[in-house]
Amino acid sequence: MIGKKMEEAINEQINAEIYSAYLYAAMASYFDSKGLKGFANWMKIQCGEEVAHAMRLYGHVIERGGRVIMKPIKGPENDWKSPLAVFEAVSAHEAKVTGLINNLVKLARKEEDEAALVALQWFVTEQVEEEANAAEIVQKLK
Ligand code: FEO
Repeated sequence: MIGKKMEEAINEQINAEIYSAYLYAAMASYFDSKGLKGFANWMKIQCGEEVAHAMRLYGHVIERGGRVIMKPIKGPENDWKSPLAVFEAVSAHEAKVTGLINNLVKLARKEEDEAALVALQWFVTEQVEEEANAAEIVQKLK
């Protein structure tokens, strides 16, 4: 059974992952509005990945007898000044998400929640890849 603190913290992360999906959908729409189909496609794939991240955490909570509560999703930005600005925003956003995942890992350690620690390792690895992908595109655009 998952502990209350961990359950609440993972619920917050589910909200953050859905927000990420929403943000990337907004970025996809920005690129579609500029006729930049390749960039729009990249964002749509990211959007789908973020929903998958949320549902992976959802599965963890449910498997451990917890409850997932859907909270309001804040509205993302919808406009940027250039494609480079968009990918810089992606880079900054993913760095922020890495911080959130690291905080979850710290909490899991504090709570001695071995199951959450194992589940979160996947996210630690995923964040390395997500940050690297964003940094590479920023570099290319520059
Ligand atoms: Fe779910 Fe892009 O982190």
